[in-house]
Amino acid sequence: MNKETSIVILDDEINILHSLTRAFREESFGLFTTTQPEEALQVLQRENVKVVISDQKMPRIGGVEFLKKVKEMKPDILRILFTGYADIQIAEDAINQGSVYRFIHKPWNEEELKATLRDALLNFDLTLENKRLFELTQKQNQELELKNQQLQALIDKQIAFTTTVSHELRTPLSSMKMAMDMITSRNLSMKLTAEEIQYLNIAKNNIDRLRRLVNDILDLSKLKAVQETLPMAEHSMNEIIREVAAIHKPQAEIKGLKFKVKLDESVGNVLMNPDKINQLLNNLVNNAVKFTEDGSITVSSRLRRDDHCVEVCVQDTGQGIAAQDQPKLFQKFQQLCEPKERVGGTGLGLAICKEIVTQHSGRIWVESDKGKGCAFLFDLPVPGGKEAGI
Ligand SMILES: Nc1ncnc2c1ncn2[C@@H]1O[C@H](COP(=O)(O)OP(=O)(O)OP(=O)(O)O)[C@@H](O)[C@H]1O
Ligand SMILES: [Mg+2]
Repeated sequence: MNKETSIVILDDEINILHSLTRAFREESFGLFTTTQPEEALQVLQRENVKVVISDQKMPRIGGVEFLKKVKEMKPDILRILFTGYADIQIAEDAINQGSVYRFIHKPWNEEELKATLRDALLNFDLTLENKRLFELTQKQNQELELKNQQLQALIDKQIAFTTTVSHELRTPLSSMKMAMDMITSRNLSMKLTAEEIQYLNIAKNNIDRLRRLVNDILDLSKLKAVQETLPMAEHSMNEIIREVAAIHKPQAEIKGLKFKVKLDESVGNVLMNPDKINQLLNNLVNNAVKFTEDGSITVSSRLRRDDHCVEVCVQDTGQGIAAQDQPKLFQKFQQLCEPKERVGGTGLGLAICKEIVTQHSGRIWVESDKGKGCAFLFDLPVPGGKEAGI
């Protein structure tokens, strides 16, 4: 079977070429030998040659010069120079200039020469494969980039659609609510029956529910849309906790729950959008009150010096959340209880929390054992905390 020519050897001494052909007869690669530089170059044009060996001392052209031509013609081919001891400096210079891959002394050791050639062939194949993989990765990266752009365009469209629809829904809902309020406030003059009032109240509650849902959806899409433009300022974390606690304490106490606030006074300012952090904490405390029937709610702050973060924790003694449910909590419209047991709400609160925390480069997570209450925690980086050593 004809072997594909992988190696070309150029030498002006025909005896050397004969002995090389004999030495490599059993090898798996095809060998082409010639005394003519032009013929060697023609073979390189025609065949998929991987390695070229050239003698340095030849009458018409020096080996280094010839290998430079090879490099110009086919830069990927590995070039090896045969040298006598007198030409070592020339060979080293050629290697340093990148025109030669290696040099081999004449007379050569046959086993060493074979090993060098196998090594060179392997090197050629690996380089080629690397190049192929690199180009493939580049192509895939470009495709990915394009897909990302398409996806972003779709997301933008979806956000624009949600925002428009939510806006459009809000206006008629507001006028329905106003109409309901007017009817119920004029109850006496209109002489409504108890049953009629009951129906009106059901309608009113549903309008409220719908308004909350529309507001939440609008909030979420706005949050996603203004990702880089949320105005931030340094603000006291403990102050936000006090504000939110003041709103929810009475509500919790009406339910018979203890409401505790434990602040770490070393917690200082955090770079934040105070309205959004207020909304985030508000959602968490609201959930804690909503899903706790007995016991207490504790809101606490803590400075984590080891990784320069402020951590806020809302702990309750309510029904808790099973481990398998915890990962889906922060997705949109996730409510864990059966629909008939749901205490109002739409399942968007925690998705909004997650979005807010992410925009502040923080994290949010839950720790809970089902039946033993749960703790929702979030952390935010302290601005310049690393440099200041906090
Ligand atoms: N403190 C908690 N204890 C037990 N379960 C909780 C607690 N907080 C949240 N959950 C569970 O996670 C679900 C999702 O909470 P999320 O705040 O996103 O929605 P929601 O409170 O039901 O409605 P929304 O907040 O949109 O009014 C809740 O329905 C509830 O099943
Ligand atoms: Mg909620």
